[in-house]
Amino acid sequence: MRSKVTVVGAGNVGATTAQRIHQLGYADVVLVDVVEDLPQGKSLDMLESGPVIGSDALITGANGYEETAGSDMVVITAGIARRPGMSRDDLLLTNMRITSAVTSEIVRHSPDTIILAVTNPLDAMVQNVYETAGLPRSRVFGMAGVLDTARYRTFIAQELNVSVDDVQALVLGGHGDDMVPLVRYTTVGCIPLTELLSQERIDSIVRRTRDGGGEIVALLKQGSAFYAPSAAITQMVEAVLLDKKRILPGCAYLQGEYGINGLCVGVPVKIGAGGMEQVLEISLTDAEQAALQSSAASVQELVDVMAKARAEAG
Ligand code: APR
Repeated sequence: MRSKVTVVGAGNVGATTAQRIHQLGYADVVLVDVVEDLPQGKSLDMLESGPVIGSDALITGANGYEETAGSDMVVITAGIARRPGMSRDDLLLTNMRITSAVTSEIVRHSPDTIILAVTNPLDAMVQNVYETAGLPRSRVFGMAGVLDTARYRTFIAQELNVSVDDVQALVLGGHGDDMVPLVRYTTVGCIPLTELLSQERIDSIVRRTRDGGGEIVALLKQGSAFYAPSAAITQMVEAVLLDKKRILPGCAYLQGEYGINGLCVGVPVKIGAGGMEQVLEISLTDAEQAALQSSAASVQELVDVMAKARAEAG
């Protein structure tokens, strides 16, 4: 029997994600959006690609949640995207309201599901979805680190003229300008990156990685990145559906790990059939730990703004 995956938000990220998952062939997809007929139209178009790409999986569109009932996994991409000049944080309160409403509906119809949140500002939205869902932390986590490391790995592979397959890397912290690419844990064919590139070149790649989302926003003029994000989401979805036990960077609700308690930030996690099955704690230098703390503090600021807005709304 095929798995069932719901993707909420049929915009650039959601629709591209639905397409990638449908193409896998072993999961049926329900694509949900508030815009009438949009998810139905996109889904039908994708379904009709089945005979060509060799996928028997079903994909349907919906404006409500009845059709999502019993989903094994739900990806939340609903929200507004960044425009040039906007930071991810500018999206905060609008996307908080949207992701809260979406989460309540999802959990009502699929109480046993695993939720992967993608809406920005990522870490704050994962926190909001986690708190709204009331599910164990293993079943609510977020995608950002896989995307950030994909960007970082791309730039390193380009710089060294090597295969992207051979670049292994880890990015910690929030999905913001103060994310923490861990240079010390970056290897190319098992060789530490520091053996292969000067500190100056590494610093420049780290900077470009941090600004990676903004670089795309500036080029697109409207909307934000979606090809690499949807690829990263699909890798995490596949890790759950196939119980792959992948070790990937993911945004998880920390309970004391890395000295952080009660906050969602990016750390290395194990992803399998149980969702976010484990947080891996690796040793950090004082400087790395300080950078992670500073990144977590930025996330905490957004979480505080959300709490204040909720209190004011009663
Ligand atoms: N329920 C369902 N869908 C919604 C809701 C809602 N309450 N509110 C908005 N949407 C839908 C919009 O109608 C739109 O189709 O979410 C979709 C968002 O699509 P885009 O504007 O194309 O944005 P996208 O590029 O897909 O990014 C979505 O992911 O990476 C993040 O920063 C990005 O927060 C943004 C999100």
